[in-house]
Amino acid sequence: MVRKTLEGVQVSDAFVAKLTARKGLTPAQIRTAVRFAGLAQSDDASMEGLIERQLRNSDQALGNCAHEAGARRSVTTYDLAMLNVESRFEVPRIVKALKARGHGSLCFYGAPGTGKTALAEHIAQVLEQPLIIKQASDLMSKYVGETEQNMAAMFREAEAEKAILLLDEADSFLQDRRGAQRTYEVTEVNEMLQGMERHAGIFVCTTNLLESLDQALLRRFTFKIKFMPLTGEQREKMFITEALGADASLLTGALRARLAKLTQLCPGDFAAVKRQVEILSAELSAEEFLSQLEAEHRIKPEVREARSMGFVH
Ligand SMILES: Nc1ncnc2c1ncn2[C@@H]1O[C@H](COP(=O)(O)OP(=O)(O)O)[C@@H](O)[C@H]1O
Ligand SMILES: [Mg+2]
Repeated sequence: MVRKTLEGVQVSDAFVAKLTARKGLTPAQIRTAVRFAGLAQSDDASMEGLIERQLRNSDQALGNCAHEAGARRSVTTYDLAMLNVESRFEVPRIVKALKARGHGSLCFYGAPGTGKTALAEHIAQVLEQPLIIKQASDLMSKYVGETEQNMAAMFREAEAEKAILLLDEADSFLQDRRGAQRTYEVTEVNEMLQGMERHAGIFVCTTNLLESLDQALLRRFTFKIKFMPLTGEQREKMFITEALGADASLLTGALRARLAKLTQLCPGDFAAVKRQVEILSAELSAEEFLSQLEAEHRIKPEVREARSMGFVH
């Protein structure tokens, strides 16, 4: 897509690769940058440099800095088999249906680190469509009516770019209306539902909510998928892949016994440990890797709660 948008512009393959790696970049942004570069070009400045500068400026203007430079590069090996989900239909079947029909709305809910955002990214990749990621907090405004306007603009943008739209961490829009605290406005939720129903493309919503998720709202989505922590089998498989260099024979009985206790472990915990390893450029032994996973596990709210109630010793 980047190459096509840059047709007729003199740029290197390396430059195309560099732009391709930028998450959230849209064809419109590239076209605008190329136009700017064309206007500003002089002998001493390269086309590539100018395009990059303009993209950086537009990123800043859009407040996209956090998403720049592939901030969400995955440190784990992506594998659909690492999903533990509850869904009426199997995930591969849903992906296939989306590919064939080109539209539909999905709600991914479950604990942090269970792979909700990553699945949306995976779907965009399989469908070879750009992905527009909006955090619910990006849309929220204290001014009357502005959140609704932002919501509508988000759907328009996705449609113009023929992109998959991901409204990430949309908790505030999906909270049960009967809840004690009114953390959202009815008109904002309505705007989301209308946008979703009119939307010609694919719309994905993720939330960490479980109990306080509005069930009536949930029913409005074509597909609802509940994400859960890894099963015992998945935990072992992921440990072999990420900590043992895919050598299953290194999984000792002692390691297995310790892994068996980490019932709330999620792919995100493996990612957290791997990120530490990367930053420290350390080599962790299987033992040490597992200790780090145990540390991640210990600080989970579910685990801390269970311990304070005396279920876990
Ligand atoms: N299916 C998967 N296979 C391997 N690793 C995964 C998978 N899903 C998620 N991960 C890892 O877990 C990390 C956290 O996942 P993420 O999608 O951000 O969780 P959530 O959005 O549910 O909080 C990702 O960055 C990735 O490294
Ligand atoms: Mg997420």
